[in-house]
Amino acid sequence: MGAGRDGVGLVGGPLPPCQTAPVDTQTTDTDAPGHPRPPARVLRPARTVVRWAVRHGLPAVYLERGARRGDLVGRLLRDPAARDEPYPLYEQLRARGPVSPGSIGLVTASHAVASDMLRSDRFGVGWDRSAAPRLIRWALRFGDELDATGVAEPPSMLVVDPPDHTRFRRLVSRAFTPRATAAFEPVVQRTADALLDALELRSGPVDLVETYAAQLPVLVIADLLGVPTERREDFLRWGAAAAATLDPGLPFRRYVAAERALRAMHSFLREHFARLRREPGEDLVSRLVGLPDDEALTERELHATVMLLLGAGFETTVNLLGNGVMLLDRHREQRDALLADPSGWDGAVEEVLRHDSPVQITGRSAKDGAALAGRELRPGTRVTVLLGAANRDPEVFADPARFDITRANARDHLAFSAGIHYCVGAGLARLEGVVGLRALTERYPGLRVSGRPVRRDLQTLRGFEHLPVKLF
Ligand code: HEM
Repeated sequence: MGAGRDGVGLVGGPLPPCQTAPVDTQTTDTDAPGHPRPPARVLRPARTVVRWAVRHGLPAVYLERGARRGDLVGRLLRDPAARDEPYPLYEQLRARGPVSPGSIGLVTASHAVASDMLRSDRFGVGWDRSAAPRLIRWALRFGDELDATGVAEPPSMLVVDPPDHTRFRRLVSRAFTPRATAAFEPVVQRTADALLDALELRSGPVDLVETYAAQLPVLVIADLLGVPTERREDFLRWGAAAAATLDPGLPFRRYVAAERALRAMHSFLREHFARLRREPGEDLVSRLVGLPDDEALTERELHATVMLLLGAGFETTVNLLGNGVMLLDRHREQRDALLADPSGWDGAVEEVLRHDSPVQITGRSAKDGAALAGRELRPGTRVTVLLGAANRDPEVFADPARFDITRANARDHLAFSAGIHYCVGAGLARLEGVVGLRALTERYPGLRVSGRPVRRDLQTLRGFEHLPVKLF
Protein backbone atom coordinates (compact mmCIF):
# COMPACT_ATOMS: atom_id res chain seq x y z
CA MET A 1 0.00 0.00 0.00
CA GLY A 2 1.10 3.50 -0.60
CA ALA A 3 0.94 6.31 1.90
CA GLY A 4 -2.17 7.05 3.82
CA ARG A 5 -4.38 4.12 4.59
CA ASP A 6 -4.82 0.48 5.15
CA GLY A 7 -7.72 -1.92 5.32
CA VAL A 8 -8.37 -4.10 8.28
CA GLY A 9 -10.06 -7.15 6.91
CA LEU A 10 -13.46 -8.52 7.70
CA VAL A 11 -12.79 -8.76 11.39
CA GLY A 12 -12.58 -5.87 13.80
CA GLY A 13 -9.04 -4.70 13.01
CA PRO A 14 -5.67 -6.37 13.29
CA LEU A 15 -3.81 -3.27 14.42
CA PRO A 16 -4.93 -2.27 17.88
CA PRO A 17 -2.37 0.55 18.23
CA CYS A 18 -4.14 2.39 15.42
CA GLN A 19 -7.69 1.88 16.54
CA THR A 20 -8.50 5.47 17.14
CA ALA A 21 -6.97 6.73 13.92
CA PRO A 22 -9.28 9.00 11.90
CA VAL A 23 -10.91 7.40 8.92
CA ASP A 24 -9.92 8.25 5.39
CA THR A 25 -11.48 6.88 2.25
CA GLN A 26 -8.97 6.84 -0.57
CA THR A 27 -7.22 3.85 -2.01
CA THR A 28 -3.58 3.83 -2.95
CA ASP A 29 -1.55 2.12 -5.57
CA THR A 30 2.16 1.59 -5.33
CA ASP A 31 2.19 0.72 -9.02
CA ALA A 32 1.36 4.33 -9.74
CA PRO A 33 4.11 6.51 -11.19
CA GLY A 34 6.27 8.18 -8.56
CA HIS A 35 5.92 5.41 -5.98
CA PRO A 36 8.93 3.34 -4.98
CA ARG A 37 9.63 0.19 -6.96
CA PRO A 38 9.12 -3.02 -4.98
CA PRO A 39 12.31 -3.94 -3.14
CA ALA A 40 14.49 -6.69 -4.55
CA ARG A 41 13.55 -10.34 -4.13
CA VAL A 42 16.16 -10.75 -1.42
CA LEU A 43 14.02 -8.66 0.90
CA ARG A 44 11.03 -10.95 0.48
CA PRO A 45 11.44 -13.08 3.63
CA ALA A 46 11.93 -9.96 5.77
CA ARG A 47 8.84 -8.39 4.27
CA THR A 48 6.83 -11.53 4.95
CA VAL A 49 7.84 -11.45 8.60
CA VAL A 50 6.98 -7.75 8.90
CA ARG A 51 3.62 -8.22 7.18
CA TRP A 52 2.75 -11.11 9.46
CA ALA A 53 3.88 -9.21 12.57
CA VAL A 54 1.73 -6.19 11.80
CA ARG A 55 -1.37 -7.98 10.51
CA HIS A 56 -1.39 -11.07 12.70
CA GLY A 57 1.40 -11.18 15.30
CA LEU A 58 0.32 -8.01 17.10
CA PRO A 59 -3.41 -8.74 17.09
CA ALA A 60 -2.62 -12.26 18.35
CA VAL A 61 -0.88 -10.74 21.37
CA TYR A 62 -3.87 -8.51 22.14
CA LEU A 63 -6.40 -11.28 21.61
CA GLU A 64 -4.41 -13.80 23.63
CA ARG A 65 -4.01 -11.36 26.50
CA GLY A 66 -7.71 -10.50 26.30
CA ALA A 67 -8.69 -14.18 26.27
CA ARG A 68 -6.59 -14.83 29.40
CA ARG A 69 -8.38 -11.97 31.16
CA GLY A 70 -11.77 -13.39 30.23
CA ASP A 71 -12.46 -11.08 27.29
CA LEU A 72 -15.10 -12.84 25.21
CA VAL A 73 -13.92 -11.58 21.81
CA GLY A 74 -10.42 -12.78 22.66
CA ARG A 75 -11.87 -16.19 23.53
CA LEU A 76 -14.03 -16.26 20.45
CA LEU A 77 -11.08 -15.64 18.18
CA ARG A 78 -8.47 -17.74 19.99
CA ASP A 79 -10.27 -20.69 21.54
CA PRO A 80 -10.70 -23.68 19.16
CA ALA A 81 -13.80 -24.82 21.07
CA ALA A 82 -15.45 -21.44 20.47
CA ARG A 83 -14.57 -21.73 16.82
CA ASP A 84 -16.39 -25.06 16.56
CA GLU A 85 -19.39 -23.81 18.49
CA PRO A 86 -19.46 -19.99 18.84
CA TYR A 87 -23.15 -19.70 19.71
CA PRO A 88 -22.90 -20.06 23.52
CA LEU A 89 -20.26 -17.30 23.56
CA TYR A 90 -22.46 -15.07 21.43
CA GLU A 91 -25.19 -15.42 24.04
CA GLN A 92 -22.79 -14.42 26.81
CA LEU A 93 -21.86 -11.34 24.77
CA ARG A 94 -25.50 -10.53 24.11
CA ALA A 95 -26.21 -10.68 27.83
CA ARG A 96 -23.71 -7.82 28.31
CA GLY A 97 -25.83 -5.46 26.21
CA PRO A 98 -26.12 -4.30 22.61
CA VAL A 99 -22.51 -3.08 22.47
CA SER A 100 -19.64 -4.18 24.70
CA PRO A 101 -15.90 -3.56 24.84
CA GLY A 102 -13.54 -6.25 23.56
CA SER A 103 -9.79 -6.68 23.12
CA ILE A 104 -9.88 -5.10 19.66
CA GLY A 105 -12.43 -2.32 20.09
CA LEU A 106 -16.16 -2.72 20.56
CA VAL A 107 -18.33 -5.68 19.65
CA THR A 108 -22.01 -6.14 18.91
CA ALA A 109 -24.26 -9.20 18.76
CA SER A 110 -27.38 -7.09 18.31
CA HIS A 111 -29.31 -7.24 15.04
CA ALA A 112 -30.61 -3.68 15.43
CA VAL A 113 -27.17 -2.21 16.15
CA ALA A 114 -25.47 -4.21 13.39
CA SER A 115 -28.13 -3.34 10.88
CA ASP A 116 -28.01 0.41 11.65
CA MET A 117 -24.23 0.47 11.64
CA LEU A 118 -23.78 -1.40 8.38
CA ARG A 119 -26.18 1.01 6.69
CA SER A 120 -24.74 4.18 8.23
CA ASP A 121 -22.32 6.46 6.39
CA ARG A 122 -20.84 7.34 9.79
CA PHE A 123 -19.04 4.00 9.68
CA GLY A 124 -16.55 2.86 7.09
CA VAL A 125 -14.37 -0.14 6.34
CA GLY A 126 -10.98 1.56 6.17
CA TRP A 127 -8.80 3.48 8.56
CA ASP A 128 -6.18 6.10 8.06
CA ARG A 129 -2.76 4.89 9.06
CA SER A 130 -1.26 8.36 9.10
CA ALA A 131 -2.20 8.60 12.79
CA ALA A 132 -0.58 5.25 13.59
CA PRO A 133 2.73 4.99 15.45
CA ARG A 134 5.69 5.57 13.15
CA LEU A 135 6.95 2.00 13.42
CA ILE A 136 3.61 0.63 12.28
CA ARG A 137 3.51 3.05 9.37
CA TRP A 138 6.98 1.98 8.34
CA ALA A 139 6.07 -1.70 8.68
CA LEU A 140 3.00 -1.31 6.48
CA ARG A 141 5.01 0.52 3.84
CA PHE A 142 7.87 -1.95 3.95
CA GLY A 143 5.55 -4.95 3.84
CA ASP A 144 3.45 -3.66 0.97
CA GLU A 145 3.55 -5.88 -2.13
CA LEU A 146 0.88 -6.52 -4.73
CA ASP A 147 1.55 -10.24 -4.98
CA ALA A 148 1.09 -10.77 -1.24
CA THR A 149 -2.11 -8.71 -1.05
CA GLY A 150 -5.28 -10.55 -0.04
CA VAL A 151 -8.98 -9.76 -0.38
CA ALA A 152 -9.14 -8.12 3.03
CA GLU A 153 -6.65 -5.42 2.03
CA PRO A 154 -7.19 -2.37 -0.17
CA PRO A 155 -7.97 -1.87 -2.93
CA SER A 156 -10.34 -4.84 -2.54
CA MET A 157 -13.81 -3.27 -2.60
CA LEU A 158 -14.63 -5.11 0.61
CA VAL A 159 -12.32 -2.79 2.53
CA VAL A 160 -12.52 0.54 0.72
CA ASP A 161 -14.95 3.38 1.31
CA PRO A 162 -16.54 5.64 -1.30
CA PRO A 163 -15.70 7.12 -3.74
CA ASP A 164 -13.42 4.21 -4.76
CA HIS A 165 -15.89 1.66 -3.46
CA THR A 166 -18.64 3.16 -5.63
CA ARG A 167 -16.37 3.05 -8.69
CA PHE A 168 -15.40 -0.62 -8.22
CA ARG A 169 -18.87 -1.75 -7.32
CA ARG A 170 -20.45 -0.08 -10.36
CA LEU A 171 -18.04 -1.88 -12.65
CA VAL A 172 -18.97 -5.35 -11.40
CA SER A 173 -22.59 -5.10 -10.33
CA ARG A 174 -23.96 -5.29 -13.88
CA ALA A 175 -22.89 -8.94 -14.00
CA PHE A 176 -24.95 -9.69 -10.86
CA THR A 177 -28.33 -8.05 -11.56
CA PRO A 178 -31.36 -10.26 -10.85
CA ARG A 179 -31.75 -10.76 -14.61
CA ALA A 180 -28.12 -11.72 -15.17
CA THR A 181 -28.28 -14.09 -12.19
CA ALA A 182 -31.50 -15.74 -13.36
CA ALA A 183 -29.87 -16.32 -16.76
CA PHE A 184 -27.27 -18.36 -14.90
CA GLU A 185 -29.75 -20.88 -13.53
CA PRO A 186 -29.29 -23.42 -16.36
CA VAL A 187 -25.51 -23.32 -15.84
CA VAL A 188 -25.91 -23.96 -12.10
CA GLN A 189 -28.40 -26.78 -12.72
CA ARG A 190 -26.25 -28.42 -15.39
CA THR A 191 -23.17 -28.19 -13.22
CA ALA A 192 -24.95 -29.67 -10.20
CA ASP A 193 -26.38 -32.51 -12.31
CA ALA A 194 -22.97 -33.37 -13.78
CA LEU A 195 -21.40 -33.49 -10.31
CA LEU A 196 -24.22 -35.68 -9.03
CA ASP A 197 -23.85 -38.00 -12.04
CA ALA A 198 -20.19 -38.45 -11.15
CA LEU A 199 -21.18 -39.29 -7.57
CA GLU A 200 -23.34 -42.18 -8.76
CA LEU A 201 -20.18 -44.00 -9.75
CA ARG A 202 -18.86 -43.84 -6.19
CA SER A 203 -19.48 -46.63 -3.74
CA GLY A 204 -19.16 -46.22 0.01
CA PRO A 205 -19.00 -42.95 1.97
CA VAL A 206 -17.91 -39.78 0.14
CA ASP A 207 -16.71 -36.41 1.37
CA LEU A 208 -19.52 -34.16 0.22
CA VAL A 209 -17.42 -31.00 0.53
CA GLU A 210 -14.69 -32.33 -1.73
CA THR A 211 -16.98 -33.89 -4.31
CA TYR A 212 -19.88 -31.44 -4.43
CA ALA A 213 -20.18 -28.45 -2.07
CA ALA A 214 -16.78 -27.03 -3.05
CA GLN A 215 -17.02 -28.02 -6.72
CA LEU A 216 -20.34 -26.44 -7.60
CA PRO A 217 -19.51 -22.83 -6.64
CA VAL A 218 -15.97 -22.91 -8.05
CA LEU A 219 -17.21 -24.22 -11.41
CA VAL A 220 -19.98 -21.63 -11.55
CA ILE A 221 -17.80 -18.63 -10.69
CA ALA A 222 -15.06 -19.85 -13.07
CA ASP A 223 -17.64 -19.89 -15.84
CA LEU A 224 -18.87 -16.41 -14.92
CA LEU A 225 -15.36 -14.96 -14.82
CA GLY A 226 -14.12 -16.81 -17.90
CA VAL A 227 -11.32 -18.55 -16.00
CA PRO A 228 -10.43 -22.09 -17.08
CA THR A 229 -12.40 -24.66 -15.09
CA GLU A 230 -9.48 -27.12 -15.47
CA ARG A 231 -7.66 -25.00 -12.90
CA ARG A 232 -10.39 -25.46 -10.30
CA GLU A 233 -8.36 -27.71 -8.01
CA ASP A 234 -5.69 -24.97 -7.93
CA PHE A 235 -8.29 -22.32 -7.09
CA LEU A 236 -9.72 -24.48 -4.31
CA ARG A 237 -6.28 -25.09 -2.84
CA TRP A 238 -5.25 -21.44 -3.06
CA GLY A 239 -8.64 -20.22 -1.80
CA ALA A 240 -8.58 -22.52 1.22
CA ALA A 241 -5.12 -21.30 2.26
CA ALA A 242 -5.83 -17.62 1.54
CA ALA A 243 -9.21 -17.63 3.34
CA ALA A 244 -7.31 -17.85 6.62
CA THR A 245 -6.05 -14.27 6.12
CA LEU A 246 -9.58 -13.04 6.93
CA ASP A 247 -8.99 -14.10 10.54
CA PRO A 248 -6.80 -11.94 12.77
CA GLY A 249 -3.93 -13.43 14.71
CA LEU A 250 -2.90 -16.15 12.24
CA PRO A 251 0.14 -18.23 13.34
CA PHE A 252 3.25 -17.55 11.24
CA ARG A 253 3.29 -20.92 9.43
CA ARG A 254 -0.29 -20.59 8.30
CA TYR A 255 0.35 -17.03 7.21
CA VAL A 256 3.30 -18.16 5.09
CA ALA A 257 1.14 -20.84 3.46
CA ALA A 258 -1.55 -18.24 2.80
CA GLU A 259 0.95 -15.87 1.25
CA ARG A 260 2.30 -18.61 -1.00
CA ALA A 261 -1.26 -19.22 -2.20
CA LEU A 262 -1.80 -15.50 -2.79
CA ARG A 263 1.35 -15.29 -4.90
CA ALA A 264 0.23 -18.24 -7.01
CA MET A 265 -3.19 -16.67 -7.47
CA HIS A 266 -1.78 -13.27 -8.49
CA SER A 267 0.57 -14.95 -10.92
CA PHE A 268 -2.34 -16.88 -12.45
CA LEU A 269 -4.39 -13.66 -12.69
CA ARG A 270 -1.54 -11.82 -14.42
CA GLU A 271 -1.38 -14.47 -17.14
CA HIS A 272 -5.16 -14.59 -17.37
CA PHE A 273 -5.44 -10.81 -17.87
CA ALA A 274 -2.75 -10.92 -20.56
CA ARG A 275 -4.62 -13.69 -22.37
CA LEU A 276 -7.94 -11.82 -22.23
CA ARG A 277 -6.30 -8.64 -23.48
CA ARG A 278 -5.15 -10.63 -26.52
CA GLU A 279 -8.35 -12.65 -26.95
CA PRO A 280 -11.27 -11.07 -25.07
CA GLY A 281 -14.41 -13.14 -24.42
CA GLU A 282 -17.94 -12.23 -23.31
CA ASP A 283 -17.17 -12.58 -19.60
CA LEU A 284 -16.90 -10.01 -16.82
CA VAL A 285 -13.10 -10.11 -16.60
CA SER A 286 -12.70 -9.48 -20.34
CA ARG A 287 -14.84 -6.39 -19.84
CA LEU A 288 -12.77 -5.23 -16.86
CA VAL A 289 -9.44 -5.58 -18.68
CA GLY A 290 -10.83 -3.78 -21.73
CA LEU A 291 -12.33 -0.72 -20.01
CA PRO A 292 -11.78 2.62 -21.78
CA ASP A 293 -8.97 4.77 -20.39
CA ASP A 294 -11.23 7.07 -18.37
CA GLU A 295 -12.70 4.09 -16.48
CA ALA A 296 -9.73 1.70 -16.53
CA LEU A 297 -8.65 0.04 -13.31
CA THR A 298 -5.00 0.12 -12.32
CA GLU A 299 -3.21 -3.22 -12.35
CA ARG A 300 -3.54 -3.46 -8.59
CA GLU A 301 -7.25 -2.60 -8.61
CA LEU A 302 -7.83 -5.20 -11.31
CA HIS A 303 -6.07 -7.90 -9.29
CA ALA A 304 -7.98 -6.95 -6.14
CA THR A 305 -11.37 -6.90 -7.84
CA VAL A 306 -11.04 -10.19 -9.72
CA MET A 307 -9.40 -11.98 -6.80
CA LEU A 308 -12.27 -10.93 -4.55
CA LEU A 309 -14.92 -12.08 -7.02
CA LEU A 310 -13.19 -15.39 -7.55
CA GLY A 311 -12.54 -16.06 -3.86
CA ALA A 312 -15.88 -14.78 -2.56
CA GLY A 313 -17.57 -16.74 -5.33
CA PHE A 314 -16.64 -20.12 -3.87
CA GLU A 315 -15.14 -19.72 -0.39
CA THR A 316 -18.52 -18.70 1.06
CA THR A 317 -21.05 -20.71 -0.94
CA VAL A 318 -19.25 -23.97 -0.10
CA ASN A 319 -20.17 -23.21 3.51
CA LEU A 320 -23.81 -22.54 2.69
CA LEU A 321 -24.07 -25.92 0.95
CA GLY A 322 -22.19 -27.84 3.65
CA ASN A 323 -24.05 -26.19 6.53
CA GLY A 324 -27.32 -26.80 4.68
CA VAL A 325 -26.65 -30.52 4.21
CA MET A 326 -25.76 -30.85 7.88
CA LEU A 327 -28.85 -29.00 9.12
CA LEU A 328 -31.21 -30.95 6.87
CA ASP A 329 -29.61 -34.18 8.04
CA ARG A 330 -30.27 -33.19 11.64
CA HIS A 331 -33.86 -32.22 10.80
CA ARG A 332 -34.97 -35.01 8.52
CA GLU A 333 -38.64 -34.23 8.91
CA GLN A 334 -37.98 -30.82 7.33
CA ARG A 335 -36.00 -32.46 4.56
CA ASP A 336 -38.90 -34.81 3.87
CA ALA A 337 -41.23 -31.81 3.77
CA LEU A 338 -39.01 -30.25 1.08
CA LEU A 339 -39.04 -33.46 -0.92
CA ALA A 340 -42.84 -33.43 -0.75
CA ASP A 341 -43.14 -29.71 -1.56
CA PRO A 342 -40.13 -28.16 -3.32
CA SER A 343 -41.66 -24.66 -3.12
CA GLY A 344 -40.11 -24.51 0.37
CA TRP A 345 -36.50 -24.44 -0.85
CA ASP A 346 -36.16 -20.64 -1.01
CA GLY A 347 -37.22 -20.37 2.64
CA ALA A 348 -34.99 -23.29 3.63
CA VAL A 349 -31.91 -21.60 2.16
CA GLU A 350 -32.71 -18.34 3.98
CA GLU A 351 -33.02 -20.30 7.22
CA VAL A 352 -29.66 -22.02 6.67
CA LEU A 353 -28.08 -18.60 6.03
CA ARG A 354 -29.63 -17.27 9.22
CA HIS A 355 -29.12 -20.24 11.48
CA ASP A 356 -25.51 -21.09 10.65
CA SER A 357 -24.18 -18.12 8.67
CA PRO A 358 -21.30 -18.82 6.23
CA VAL A 359 -19.72 -15.43 7.10
CA GLN A 360 -19.86 -14.93 10.85
CA ILE A 361 -17.93 -11.75 11.41
CA THR A 362 -17.25 -8.39 9.86
CA GLY A 363 -16.08 -5.03 11.16
CA ARG A 364 -16.39 -1.29 10.72
CA SER A 365 -14.53 1.86 11.85
CA ALA A 366 -16.28 4.87 13.30
CA LYS A 367 -16.05 8.11 11.34
CA ASP A 368 -16.72 11.63 12.61
CA GLY A 369 -20.05 11.85 14.40
CA ALA A 370 -20.56 8.10 14.71
CA ALA A 371 -22.60 6.87 17.67
CA LEU A 372 -23.70 3.44 18.84
CA ALA A 373 -26.52 2.64 21.21
CA GLY A 374 -26.66 6.34 22.14
CA ARG A 375 -22.91 6.64 22.79
CA GLU A 376 -20.67 8.83 20.67
CA LEU A 377 -17.55 7.08 19.39
CA ARG A 378 -14.08 8.41 18.80
CA PRO A 379 -13.31 8.40 15.07
CA GLY A 380 -11.38 5.26 14.17
CA THR A 381 -12.92 3.10 16.89
CA ARG A 382 -13.24 -0.42 15.54
CA VAL A 383 -16.48 -2.33 15.99
CA THR A 384 -16.59 -6.09 15.44
CA VAL A 385 -19.96 -7.06 14.03
CA LEU A 386 -20.99 -10.62 14.83
CA LEU A 387 -23.29 -11.37 11.91
CA GLY A 388 -23.82 -14.93 13.11
CA ALA A 389 -24.97 -13.62 16.50
CA ALA A 390 -27.19 -10.87 15.05
CA ASN A 391 -28.90 -13.61 13.05
CA ARG A 392 -29.87 -15.30 16.31
CA ASP A 393 -31.08 -12.17 18.05
CA PRO A 394 -34.28 -13.07 19.95
CA GLU A 395 -35.51 -9.48 19.48
CA VAL A 396 -35.94 -10.28 15.77
CA PHE A 397 -36.16 -14.08 15.49
CA ALA A 398 -38.46 -16.01 17.80
CA ASP A 399 -36.75 -19.02 19.40
CA PRO A 400 -33.64 -18.20 17.35
CA ALA A 401 -31.69 -21.42 18.00
CA ARG A 402 -34.47 -23.48 16.44
CA PHE A 403 -33.96 -24.43 12.79
CA ASP A 404 -37.24 -23.87 11.00
CA ILE A 405 -37.48 -23.75 7.22
CA THR A 406 -40.95 -22.18 7.46
CA ARG A 407 -39.79 -19.22 9.58
CA ALA A 408 -41.62 -16.24 8.11
CA ASN A 409 -38.91 -13.62 8.63
CA ALA A 410 -35.78 -15.73 8.04
CA ARG A 411 -34.84 -13.41 5.16
CA ASP A 412 -34.32 -10.55 7.64
CA HIS A 413 -30.92 -12.08 8.43
CA LEU A 414 -27.69 -10.15 7.91
CA ALA A 415 -25.77 -13.10 6.43
CA PHE A 416 -25.03 -11.02 3.32
CA SER A 417 -24.38 -7.88 5.42
CA ALA A 418 -26.30 -4.65 4.65
CA GLY A 419 -25.70 -1.16 3.29
CA ILE A 420 -23.22 -0.35 0.55
CA HIS A 421 -21.14 -3.51 1.06
CA TYR A 422 -24.16 -5.82 0.85
CA CYS A 423 -22.93 -8.94 -0.92
CA VAL A 424 -22.76 -8.39 -4.67
CA GLY A 425 -23.16 -12.12 -5.25
CA ALA A 426 -26.12 -12.68 -2.88
CA GLY A 427 -28.49 -13.55 -5.73
CA LEU A 428 -26.02 -16.01 -7.23
CA ALA A 429 -25.32 -17.55 -3.81
CA ARG A 430 -29.06 -18.01 -3.19
CA LEU A 431 -29.47 -19.60 -6.61
CA GLU A 432 -26.59 -22.00 -5.96
CA GLY A 433 -27.98 -22.78 -2.51
CA VAL A 434 -31.47 -23.60 -3.80
CA VAL A 435 -30.44 -25.47 -6.95
CA GLY A 436 -27.49 -27.18 -5.27
CA LEU A 437 -29.33 -28.43 -2.17
CA ARG A 438 -32.50 -29.35 -4.03
CA ALA A 439 -30.70 -31.31 -6.77
CA LEU A 440 -28.66 -33.21 -4.17
CA THR A 441 -31.63 -34.00 -1.96
CA GLU A 442 -33.85 -35.13 -4.83
CA ARG A 443 -31.13 -37.32 -6.36
CA TYR A 444 -30.17 -38.89 -3.03
CA PRO A 445 -33.22 -38.80 -0.73
CA GLY A 446 -31.57 -41.36 1.55
CA LEU A 447 -28.37 -39.32 2.05
CA ARG A 448 -27.04 -39.43 5.62
CA VAL A 449 -24.13 -37.71 7.25
CA SER A 450 -21.90 -40.49 8.52
CA GLY A 451 -18.49 -40.50 10.14
CA ARG A 452 -17.00 -37.41 11.73
CA PRO A 453 -17.68 -34.04 10.07
CA VAL A 454 -14.76 -31.63 10.48
CA ARG A 455 -15.29 -27.88 10.73
CA ARG A 456 -12.95 -25.54 8.83
CA ASP A 457 -10.22 -24.11 11.01
CA LEU A 458 -11.51 -20.56 10.46
CA GLN A 459 -13.44 -17.99 12.47
CA THR A 460 -14.71 -15.45 9.95
CA LEU A 461 -15.97 -18.14 7.58
CA ARG A 462 -18.03 -20.97 9.04
CA GLY A 463 -18.41 -24.25 7.21
CA PHE A 464 -17.07 -27.76 6.89
CA GLU A 465 -13.67 -28.93 5.77
CA HIS A 466 -14.92 -32.52 5.48
CA LEU A 467 -18.48 -33.76 5.50
CA PRO A 468 -18.56 -37.56 5.10
CA VAL A 469 -21.90 -38.87 3.84
CA LYS A 470 -23.49 -42.12 2.72
CA LEU A 471 -25.50 -41.45 -0.40
CA PHE A 472 -27.86 -44.44 -0.25
C1 HEM B 1 -23.47 -17.92 0.81
C2 HEM B 1 -22.61 -17.24 0.11
C3 HEM B 1 -22.15 -15.86 0.46
C4 HEM B 1 -22.16 -15.19 1.65
C5 HEM B 1 -22.70 -15.66 2.98
C6 HEM B 1 -21.56 -13.89 1.41
C7 HEM B 1 -21.42 -12.91 2.38
C8 HEM B 1 -20.92 -11.65 2.15
C9 HEM B 1 -20.83 -10.62 3.14
C10 HEM B 1 -21.26 -10.77 4.60
C11 HEM B 1 -20.31 -9.52 2.55
C12 HEM B 1 -20.09 -8.13 3.13
C13 HEM B 1 -19.07 -8.02 4.23
C14 HEM B 1 -19.14 -6.67 4.89
O1 HEM B 1 -20.17 -5.99 4.89
O2 HEM B 1 -18.12 -6.27 5.46
C15 HEM B 1 -20.06 -9.87 1.17
C16 HEM B 1 -19.51 -9.02 0.25
C17 HEM B 1 -19.19 -9.41 -1.03
N1 HEM B 1 -19.50 -10.61 -1.65
FE1 HEM B 1 -20.44 -12.16 -0.82
N2 HEM B 1 -21.19 -13.81 0.11
C18 HEM B 1 -21.54 -14.97 -0.52
C19 HEM B 1 -21.37 -15.30 -1.85
C20 HEM B 1 -20.80 -14.48 -2.79
C21 HEM B 1 -20.69 -14.79 -4.18
C22 HEM B 1 -21.21 -16.06 -4.88
C23 HEM B 1 -20.06 -13.75 -4.76
C24 HEM B 1 -19.79 -13.68 -6.23
C25 HEM B 1 -18.88 -13.27 -6.85
C26 HEM B 1 -19.77 -12.76 -3.72
C27 HEM B 1 -19.11 -11.56 -3.89
C28 HEM B 1 -19.01 -10.58 -2.93
C29 HEM B 1 -18.36 -9.28 -3.16
C30 HEM B 1 -17.69 -8.83 -4.44
C31 HEM B 1 -18.47 -8.56 -1.97
C32 HEM B 1 -17.96 -7.14 -1.68
C33 HEM B 1 -19.11 -6.17 -1.83
C34 HEM B 1 -18.75 -4.77 -1.43
O3 HEM B 1 -17.82 -4.56 -0.64
O4 HEM B 1 -19.42 -3.85 -1.92
N3 HEM B 1 -20.24 -13.24 -2.53
N4 HEM B 1 -20.45 -11.17 0.95
